Amino acid sequence: MQNGFHGSDIEAVAKRFGMKEDEIISFSSNVNPLGLSDRFRNEASKYINCITEYPERDYATLRTALSEYTGIPSSCIIPGNGSTELISAFIRCFEGGNALIVSPAYSEYERSVLSSGGRVSFFELLEEDDFELNTDRLLASIDEKTDIIVICNPVNPTSTAILRTDMERILQKAGECGAAVLVDETYVEFCDMEKYSAEGLLSSYRELFIIRSMSKFFSAPGLRLGYAMTENEEIRKKMEALRDPWSISSFSEKAAVLLLSDKDHIKASGEYIKKERSRVCSLLDELKGYGVKYYSPRANFVLCRIGDEKKNATALFEFCMRRGLMIRDCTGYGSLDGRFFRFCFMDEKSDDLLIGAIREYLAG
Ligand SMILES: Cc1ncc(COP(=O)(O)O)c(C=O)c1O
Repeated sequence: MQNGFHGSDIEAVAKRFGMKEDEIISFSSNVNPLGLSDRFRNEASKYINCITEYPERDYATLRTALSEYTGIPSSCIIPGNGSTELISAFIRCFEGGNALIVSPAYSEYERSVLSSGGRVSFFELLEEDDFELNTDRLLASIDEKTDIIVICNPVNPTSTAILRTDMERILQKAGECGAAVLVDETYVEFCDMEKYSAEGLLSSYRELFIIRSMSKFFSAPGLRLGYAMTENEEIRKKMEALRDPWSISSFSEKAAVLLLSDKDHIKASGEYIKKERSRVCSLLDELKGYGVKYYSPRANFVLCRIGDEKKNATALFEFCMRRGLMIRDCTGYGSLDGRFFRFCFMDEKSDDLLIGAIREYLAG
C-alpha cells in the first residue's frame, strides 16, 4: 500500500505522525541541503520595499541575469512562476495533441497534457536497463503522430540521465516527425552539465524547449521561479499570449537576480553534492548484502530497490518516519512497484542517520 504522500507534503506527514515539521528531515523534496547563503539572506532583506511596486512587465532585468547565467540570449528566455507554470503553458500550445512521456516521470506532465485535452502515451525506462535510456528503442516509438516528447533530464525519480549526444539523436528524429521536445532540466545543475545539458543544442534545434527551476539547486521552492529557453519564436509568442501578466512577483524577480549572482554559493553547492553523492553511494554499496540495489545517481537524489520480498518501501517509509526521517515511497510512481524508494542527499550527519535507519529496517 502506497502512503499517498507527495515529495513536498511535509505538513500532511507531520500531522499524520503527530510530529512538528521541524522534527522531520525531508529527504523527499530534493532541495539543495546548503540552503540559502548568508550573503543572500543579508542582501535580500534590502529589497523588501519592492513589493509596493509592480514587477517589470517584460522582466528584462531578470532575463538579462538569466542570460548571463546560462549564456543563452535573453530574447530566448521566458521566466515563469516555477517550472510548473511553464510546463503547462508549453503543453497548452499543443492543445489536444499526442504526448509521449519518458516514464517514470514527474506527474505534472501527464496532468497538463490531459487537462489540455491531449492524449498521453508512456515510454518506459526499464529496470533491466537500470533505468538508463535505450535511445534506439525511444527513436522507434516516435512517429508522425507524435506532437510532443517530454523528457526529464536528469530523470526524477530514477536520477539517471541522458547524454547530450543521445538527446541530439532524439531531436533529429523529432524534427523529421514534426514533434516538439520538452526537456525538463530542473535537476541539471546537480549533474555534469557538460555531458548532460541540452543547452548547447538550442541554436541548432527549433523543436527544443528546455525548462529549468530555481526550486531545487537554488533551494528556493517558495520563490516559485523557473525559466524556459527556446529558439522557437512561434512557441515563445504563443506562450506569452496564453499567460497572465506579472505571474512572477517583484520580490521573486529581485531575489532570483541575487541568487543567480551568488557564484561562490553556486560553486560550493555543485561541489558538495558531487562529494556527498559519491560518499552515500559507498554507504549504499555496504548495504548490498541486505539486497538493496541502487541506480547510478547523476542528480542530488538516488532511487533504490529493496530485494527482500518480505519488505517494502511503504513499511520502510513508516520505519524512517518514526525516526523523523522522511524518504519518498515510490510505490506507484509511474510503473514502479512497492519496492522502490528515493531519497535526496542532505548534510553528512543526516545522511548517516538515514543509512543507519535503512540498515536497521532491512536487518529486522
Ligand atoms: C522534475 C520536476 N520538474 C519540475 C518540478 C517543479 O518545479 P517548480 O517548483 O519550479 O515548479 C519538480 C518538483 O518536484 C520536479 O521534480
